Amino acid sequence: MSSHNDEHQLLTEADRRALNYVADIPTRPVFPPRAAIAGLQAFEEALPERGYPASQVLRRLDEIGSPATVASNGPRYFGFVIGATLPIAAAAERLVLAWDQCASSFDNSPVADTLERIAGRWVTETLDLPRESAVGFGTSASACTLAALSAARRTLLARKGWDFDADGLVGAPEVRVVVSASVHITVKKALRVLGFGMNRLIVAPTDAQGRVDPAQLPELDALTILCLQAGEVNTGEFDPFAELIPRAKAAGAWVHIDGAFGLWVRASSSATLATGVELADSWTTDGHKWLNTPYDGAMAICRDAEALATAMNSDAVYATASRDAQKNLTLEFSRRARGIPIWAALSALGRDGLRELIDRHIRQASHLAASLRAAGYQVLNRVVLNQVLVRADSDEQTVAIRLAAQESGRVWFGPTVWQERPAFRLSVSSWRTTDADIESLIELLGELRRTTPA
Ligand SMILES: Cc1ncc(COP(=O)(O)O)c(C=O)c1O
Repeated sequence: MSSHNDEHQLLTEADRRALNYVADIPTRPVFPPRAAIAGLQAFEEALPERGYPASQVLRRLDEIGSPATVASNGPRYFGFVIGATLPIAAAAERLVLAWDQCASSFDNSPVADTLERIAGRWVTETLDLPRESAVGFGTSASACTLAALSAARRTLLARKGWDFDADGLVGAPEVRVVVSASVHITVKKALRVLGFGMNRLIVAPTDAQGRVDPAQLPELDALTILCLQAGEVNTGEFDPFAELIPRAKAAGAWVHIDGAFGLWVRASSSATLATGVELADSWTTDGHKWLNTPYDGAMAICRDAEALATAMNSDAVYATASRDAQKNLTLEFSRRARGIPIWAALSALGRDGLRELIDRHIRQASHLAASLRAAGYQVLNRVVLNQVLVRADSDEQTVAIRLAAQESGRVWFGPTVWQERPAFRLSVSSWRTTDADIESLIELLGELRRTTPA
């Protein structure tokens, strides 16, 4: 057991190492070099019979571990939609770690309960969603989608007089699910885990930009969940909510929106891209993507607060029942106060700062797309948001350029398949990415196109 003095020294040392790491981010290879990855072998040992001194554990973690990290907390990581971590969010996380709150309810942690309630309110305000909504802070969009979709099913069944909690699914009326043809895999995962068979999903066809085509929307009824997207993962596009959602609501369907990253457009000057999204019943979004807060911080937002609070209810006899308690809004019972870094980020950015962040990324992505077109690349999407979908002259060249870019250590971005052919996807989502970083990406891709055989 460490003395107070040891603990102080250890945490100070951790902070020193963390600060050095952060200071080095701009210069470290974006993907770790082979030697650093090979170095991870040093961790492959038997569980020690007698533990090492904590300072040694920390030193090894940093000396062996840090070189093998992906610099996704840096300015030149353009893979997936990862986002970095804002300094205030990281700082708040440090303090929250010291508090070690079990943020289940007010009784466990008055401060966590208060700040997560305020963060929830701010999230609905900044995303301009119904203010009466419940906001559960879960680990991921995946987990929050699961929570929201279970609330959706339970509610639709209750409207038909079926008590899902008591009677489960055996003999229940079938709830149909309509998903966009470009639905994110994690929404399918949530549906699969909830017992919606994949063969029974009804697919809504999409247009060339990955948006659900209203003319081909499948039939909806009062036992249908319609899953739409704010921010298609390749194109960053939005389904035509203003047209689709009123039709779904008129049919009595429940509309769920996967807005893992794209929902943050509502805080920007391009908010009209998502006009009508506020008409849905539930939404999921991440803090750890575009808001640039640490993992794992996501939100399940549900217009009918009671619907989420009953679906996720975990009031134990020894606990005070509360519809606002986070343990009743998320999958987790014992949980980290993951809404606090989100509160801290929103508090430090304010509406202006958040708008500036999202606007900047949209502007940078648009400049990137124009420059890549000028350099001879095909940009496959309209680039309305922060995603740029790119192809070179041939499939082979597209793949070779991506691999060479990854290998360079100067940037990192990942592969994708668009309309059955390879492409790569550049996502601008780190607060650290400057215009100069975008210029060096353009320069590198220009150079690679000239030197890679077509
Ligand atoms: C559109 C979309 N939906 C859902 C997810 C899943 O989010 P999470 O990784 O937080 O589970 C992602 C990304 O990972 C995404 O881009």
